[in-house]
Amino acid sequence: MLLLLLCFTALVSTSFSALFRNNAPVIGLMAQDVLRPKNNERSYIAASYVKTLESAGARVVPIMIDQTEEEYKTIFHAINGFFLPGGSAYIFDSGYERAAKIFYNLAIEANNKGDYFPVWGTCLGFEQLAVLTAQSNVLVQTNTTNVSLPLNFTHGKIFVP
Ligand SMILES: *[C@@H]1O[C@H](CO)[C@@H](O)[C@H](O)[C@H]1NC(C)=O
Ligand SMILES: *[C@@H]1O[C@H](CO)[C@@H](O)[C@H](O)[C@H]1NC(C)=O
Ligand SMILES: *[C@@H]1O[C@H](CO)[C@@H](O)[C@H](O)[C@H]1NC(C)=O
Repeated sequence: MLLLLLCFTALVSTSFSALFRNNAPVIGLMAQDVLRPKNNERSYIAASYVKTLESAGARVVPIMIDQTEEEYKTIFHAINGFFLPGGSAYIFDSGYERAAKIFYNLAIEANNKGDYFPVWGTCLGFEQLAVLTAQSNVLVQTNTTNVSLPLNFTHGKIFVP
């Protein structure tokens, strides 16, 4: 009888955990430095980016600036992808740039090992990715306000810095 009860408990708890297991991807969302900090403000994450990711079915983990490399590695191994938001942090020397670089290199390492690890950059985030990939300042001033340009896809390429 006791054995039966134990079996039943085990069965119920496994199906329970299967029922409530959350398979929604966990996305690390990068915080960024406040451009002109006042009081104790150092970094922020715009709520709209959290909403965007959540509305697409992801769970969001904040990645704060100025953490140790070990802490970033711990976070990296607990997320499925990372997202660099737009804003106005410096892309050559800031907490945002430092964290982005660490995660970018870890993502390349993971992808090279066959562990699919997507990275997304919006606006400033895309500029950050361009600079990290080129390993130089490839950004130039353009007069392209309200100009639509075609998005030309090229053949896939894995960048190994
Ligand atoms: C940018 O392009 C617009 C439209 O072609 C033009 O009117 C404007 O003078 C340009 N601005 C600069 C700074 O070149
Ligand atoms: C953007 O360009 C379109 C098409 O040329 C034009 O109709 C529209 O008024 C422009 N908008 C702004 C904000 O300049
Ligand atoms: C992108 O595609 C457009 C339309 O096919 C073409 O006119 C343009 O030259 C292409 N640009 C580049 C950079 O390949």
